[in-house]
Amino acid sequence: MLLSRDAQAQPVAIRREDYRPPAYWIDTVDLTFDLDPAKTRVLNRMQMRRNPDVPAEPLRLDGDELNLARVLVDGQGASFRMEGDQLVLDGLPDSFELEVFTTCCPAKNTQLMGLFVSQDTFFTQCEAEGFRRITYFLDRPDVMASYTVTLRAEKAAYPVLLSNGNLVEHGDLPEGRHFARWADPFRKPSYLFALVAGKLVAREQRVKARNGKEHLLQVYVRAGDLDKTEHAMNSLVHSIVWDESRFGLALDLDRFMIVATSDFNMGAMENKGLNIFNTKYVLASQATATDADYANIESVVGHEYFHNWTGDRVTCRDWFQLSLKEGLTVFRDQEFSMDLCADASARAVKRIEDVRVLRTAQFPEDAGPMAHPVRPDSYIEISNFYTVTIYEKGAEVVRMMQTLVGRDGFARGMTLYFQRHDGQAVTCDDFAQAIADANPDSALARHLPQFKRWYSQSGTPRVAVRGQHDAAARTYTLDFTQSCPPTPGQGDKQPFVIPVNLGLLGPDGQDLPLQLDDGGPAVAGTRTLVLTEAAQRFTFTGIDAEPVPSILRGFSAPVVLDFDYGDAQLLALLAHDSDPFNRWEAGQRLALRAALAAIEGVPAPGTPVLGEAFVEAMRQVLRHPTLDAAFKELVLTLPSETYIAEQLAVVDPQRVHVVREAMRTQLATALASDWAWAYEEHKDTGAYRPDPASAGRRALAGMALTHLCIAARASGDTVWPGKTLQRFKDAGNMTDRFNALSALVVSGHALAQQALVRFHAMFRDEALVIDKWFALQAGAPDRGGDVLPLVKQLMKHPDFSIRNPNRARSVIFSYCSANPGAFHRPDAAGYVWWSERVIELDAINPQVAARLARAMDRWSKLAEPYRSAAREAIARVAARPELSKDTLEVVTRALSN
Ligand code: TRP
Ligand code: ZN
Repeated sequence: MLLSRDAQAQPVAIRREDYRPPAYWIDTVDLTFDLDPAKTRVLNRMQMRRNPDVPAEPLRLDGDELNLARVLVDGQGASFRMEGDQLVLDGLPDSFELEVFTTCCPAKNTQLMGLFVSQDTFFTQCEAEGFRRITYFLDRPDVMASYTVTLRAEKAAYPVLLSNGNLVEHGDLPEGRHFARWADPFRKPSYLFALVAGKLVAREQRVKARNGKEHLLQVYVRAGDLDKTEHAMNSLVHSIVWDESRFGLALDLDRFMIVATSDFNMGAMENKGLNIFNTKYVLASQATATDADYANIESVVGHEYFHNWTGDRVTCRDWFQLSLKEGLTVFRDQEFSMDLCADASARAVKRIEDVRVLRTAQFPEDAGPMAHPVRPDSYIEISNFYTVTIYEKGAEVVRMMQTLVGRDGFARGMTLYFQRHDGQAVTCDDFAQAIADANPDSALARHLPQFKRWYSQSGTPRVAVRGQHDAAARTYTLDFTQSCPPTPGQGDKQPFVIPVNLGLLGPDGQDLPLQLDDGGPAVAGTRTLVLTEAAQRFTFTGIDAEPVPSILRGFSAPVVLDFDYGDAQLLALLAHDSDPFNRWEAGQRLALRAALAAIEGVPAPGTPVLGEAFVEAMRQVLRHPTLDAAFKELVLTLPSETYIAEQLAVVDPQRVHVVREAMRTQLATALASDWAWAYEEHKDTGAYRPDPASAGRRALAGMALTHLCIAARASGDTVWPGKTLQRFKDAGNMTDRFNALSALVVSGHALAQQALVRFHAMFRDEALVIDKWFALQAGAPDRGGDVLPLVKQLMKHPDFSIRNPNRARSVIFSYCSANPGAFHRPDAAGYVWWSERVIELDAINPQVAARLARAMDRWSKLAEPYRSAAREAIARVAARPELSKDTLEVVTRALSN
């Protein structure tokens, strides 16, 4: 909705403390759609009753961009009034039937919320508040109703008619039309409603659950895409099996459907029995999808399927509880992907990747103007709170609970949660209470109110640790202090409950037995310390020589860890730690240290950024006989520019970029023969399979090619770029082909141009591949300011469309959010272009615009001249007379920082 200038001056904040139960309940909903792109008619018949637990008040139904034709109460014309977007009725009986007849225009719905058309097919997106764009309703998650849905449409154009639940009737109608009636056996909130109508085909599979019940699984796509649905279907089958075996949660529907659309604001949506997906998270073939795409499809299919219990069977009382379903469901999809891994090393790789997302995206969010608790206290537009804090930090909070009660204890807690709350709309408190109550003797139960500060306090806690070895007493003492920086609206913070997984490495690099001086038993390997105080001391006995502490193993809490490691200690952890996460972390700390020294110090021209010992350690890892390839690839990947920038008080993005590029060139050159060895050793992965082990080999071979091309650029060698082009041409799968293309583009080799032309010609009809083609160019390293002019050219390409979110993201976001070295230009042209694109997108799709607006979150950390120029660009957006509340909330918060 566009706000007038007046409304815009004072957008209303919705506050958690204002929650009131609804004044009315809706027991049944009977919807009839006459689908037409230009004018769809919606007849909505609701059986309603007053909520006896709250004082009587008028009925207020939410609506947005609807044309209202008729309102009947118990079949009689009723008097009503409009208050803003709300339809208000007074003087209603205690129980009544309300009939509302409206029309809407799906063809003109560019926001992709409510009912919209994508490639001649109707889709809906109702979370969070899209149902009110379909009909007048109590559009809030605590109002749960039974739905019956009749769809009517022209049969030739819309042969497939789908909604939630079971198909109960279908048939032909006069004038070439037909109908289908669906009934959902489960009560649900309106945000889980869905319909799809169009020309689609389905891959089908029947599966038997453990109790012998049969289910029909369907993956619906456009006719040409059926051969790209096998992986999604396999992922769905794996998800069903996993949820039953790990948590005892069975599929509760006869029919479970997934439908793909190429126009979608987010990844996918868990509508009951009718999940709607962005094509990016469904379609895969070895020719068109990379290993990363395969892995993402598996985890998103899992995520939406797991919502069937955590989200649909038990839903959120209000949108402040969003992490109740999202944090928990991300935790579940992370565990699912880990459990599908063949070995501990592949599990660790997945964990490292998840932590990398948390630290490069969520930590900056928690330190910036949009910082909010996992359970926020207020919002202006709920769509802005589908964030990495709600999702990824929320998942870490659930993971800490599992760490505190153990894996079996957590499964018991889940069982209790469903025993208590199946069919209800509940809160984050209810969830934490169930996990604690099922584990009364756990540290979680002992510290529950304090643990819940993870839900209420925003900001990333810092844990500082000091170690002291006493040779005479043979003790090693660790002193922990915790603190949390202030965040918008939150000054002083109270201490958190922080589980710290800890090991101590002896002189030979082996784990020492851990004997605390509290008289408890010695523990071999890792033990979990639970921090609850601002300062806390732990003393270990029987320690002969100063050990190297391996703190926060597996990243057991979402905190920043400060420990004054010496380089030799980090090299020891990198070489020996039994915990693969901390092994990787040690390498990252060494690289970060070198980067920060080069950025902050006075650069002596020509001095290499990386020390010899670090380069040697990287060679050891690369050549290591037993470490697997995926892990090597992670260790050899330098911290990102975004992560490096987060460690600085004042950021000169150009300097960060130059230093990181120098580090990469140094690794490329110094290890040239090792990269060549690694490439030859890992390039053949046999017949294509997307499993973690062969994907790891492809990733390392691809990384080797990139470094060989970078080294070639420095030395003038042409052999490796030539080989890379050949690899690009001969590749048997998209991962190898794209990695070769990327090596040429990233290294800035002249051969890149012809490879890009060829790539486009090969895949001109594959939208998801063309997205990659755009994204690679918009995200390429900047050379003398060449990326912005290229991005402007790409926007004029006939394949570009700003209305398609995937395409807009592939060009605009790849440049503004994923290419800091190119975006932060001393002449401010990147910022000006950003402000124009935010304004342009805001008129089309406010959700996508507001996400782009967040590219400037960290403006106040920038050095001059960037800082002032960035502020000016944000102010230019904020000053627009008509802005969505989505974008207005983001830019207003950015400026008040
Ligand atoms: N609930 C969806 C998920 O699984 C998120 C989502 C999909 C969404 N589409 C949306 C949220 C549109 C807001 C608007 O995570
Ligand atoms: Zn989700």
